[in-house]
Amino acid sequence: MKIKFTLNGQTIERDVPVYKRALDFLRDDLKITSVKEGCGEGECGACTIIVNGKNVHSCLMLAVELDGKEIITLEGIEDQIKDAYVEAGAIQCGFCTPGFIVSTKVLLDKHPNPSEEEIKEALEGNLCRCTGYVKIINAVKIASSYIKGSEKND
Ligand code: FES
Ligand code: FES
Repeated sequence: MKIKFTLNGQTIERDVPVYKRALDFLRDDLKITSVKEGCGEGECGACTIIVNGKNVHSCLMLAVELDGKEIITLEGIEDQIKDAYVEAGAIQCGFCTPGFIVSTKVLLDKHPNPSEEEIKEALEGNLCRCTGYVKIINAVKIASSYIKGSEKND
């Protein structure tokens, strides 16, 4: 089936088999390798992408469902959020990191100044097997302060 959508601001048109998962389509066909397969069952969040402003598990979505939508992956997210993760030391093996950054982006777009509770809730769909979540939560707080700082300078 022919689909057309935007990926990180670029229009993409492709013919995709109806059975193909969005995760496989993004990784194999479009070479968006930041989207990771962990569990493949909607449990770990490693495959998270933004679809029309919401974070979605791409392992549970079909490629044909991307049709007409606006998709953002790690590649389309501002450096401030990525830098905050580095600054907080919130990256261990890094496998879960793109999914966390995608969920952070969705949260900060909605709540530029989130409470600790809001951060925990926003990251509930993402699992990290390497470490605790303290550094990741700090990364979100740092990202929030970076973004607020740059808005003031605009
Ligand atoms: S691979 Fe999609 S949620 Fe784990
Ligand atoms: S940094 Fe390794 S799974 Fe999260």
